[in-house]
Amino acid sequence: MWSPSSLFHRTFVIFVLNFLLLISIDESDGKLMKNKYRPFNNSISAVFVFGDSTVDSGNNNYVNTPFKGNFPPYGKDFAGRIPTGRFSDGRLVSDFISSYVGIKEYVPPYLDPKLSVEELMSGVCFASAGSGFDPLTSQLSGVISLQKQLEYFKEYKRKLEVAIGKEKAQNVISKAAFLISAGTNDFVLNYFGTPFRRETYNITGYQQFMLQNAQQFIQGLREEGAGLIALVGLPPIGCLPIVITFTSGDALSWRPCSGSLSSVALDYNRKLEKILTAINNPSSPIIYADIYYPLTEVIRKPSKFGFENVNSGCCGSGLVETTFMCNPRSAVCDNPSTYVFFDSVHPTEATYSYLFKALRPVIDRIIKDYHL
Ligand SMILES: *[C@@H]1O[C@H](CO)[C@@H](O)[C@H](O)[C@H]1NC(C)=O
Ligand SMILES: *[C@@H]1O[C@H](CO)[C@@H](O)[C@H](O)[C@H]1NC(C)=O
Repeated sequence: MWSPSSLFHRTFVIFVLNFLLLISIDESDGKLMKNKYRPFNNSISAVFVFGDSTVDSGNNNYVNTPFKGNFPPYGKDFAGRIPTGRFSDGRLVSDFISSYVGIKEYVPPYLDPKLSVEELMSGVCFASAGSGFDPLTSQLSGVISLQKQLEYFKEYKRKLEVAIGKEKAQNVISKAAFLISAGTNDFVLNYFGTPFRRETYNITGYQQFMLQNAQQFIQGLREEGAGLIALVGLPPIGCLPIVITFTSGDALSWRPCSGSLSSVALDYNRKLEKILTAINNPSSPIIYADIYYPLTEVIRKPSKFGFENVNSGCCGSGLVETTFMCNPRSAVCDNPSTYVFFDSVHPTEATYSYLFKALRPVIDRIIKDYHL
């Protein structure tokens, strides 16, 4: 019987030790990029984003943590080649969605001190790389917990009220779309990566614990006036290159997905979807956004979708590098758009673009069903 903890844990400890050897990397000073506003073609007023590195557009640039992506080669395919703090070569799904629903090209990080009122009004991102639904996850990585992200949202509301008045601010929030993407770090970094939670919870118990936290978070958003909420499920976590490296017996030459880890994610997704259906209501519709199936499809049949490499990252060796280990000194692949992963954890812009296309029918249906 495969043991998730032993193998994974041993190699993870080596990975964590690397933090201690870390040379600090110069931070770019959060250069502001021009954001193109689109004329509204529907009545969604703003986009608010919460979660982890899959949606963090640069909040960690302002946080004292090694989990940063604001140096090359991150951002190499972004407008102006700016390393914004996004953990990819280019845009994230949240940027594609914001653009598609006619709001703006990029969702800026809330912690950027230079945001204009116009930027604030059309939505910001509170997500923080390394975060999760379990408060311990963000403690381990020294980043902004989901609970703290909710506090920042409350602070944001007060600022917005001061800037545009209470009534207008309430209008912005009630007509906004809320996007949440988190959970991978809870399993990969926390539950399987450290011994702490495994002392208390078995896998089923931990899933339950995460789902409770996710529900509490949704409840918190609703109390703050959120209407439309979409929650992204987990990817096949056993297929992340770093997980393959830690679970394969011979990671250099034999790189299959870890079926057991992915099945934990799939099982969690099913439970999540059930809960979301149960707590859905017309005044605050809540949508489960599945990325597990489309990602699995790409990994199974890459050539069908224009990809060539599915099991190692474009940055460095592709086996272990992520955040500070993927840095200006790392070699980078020639064509990131043929790689599913940009570093050993995070997808390329090409993958995010594909995932957005996979989610588009869901977005179209929401816009139609709720007459947005
Ligand atoms: C909104 O308009 C933009 C261009 O103005 C377009 O690209 C996009 O597809 C539109 N979105 C929807 C949902 O109609
Ligand atoms: C997990 O723990 C719960 C109690 O917290 C127990 O009821 C359940 O049987 C356990 N499941 C497994 C697979 O060990």
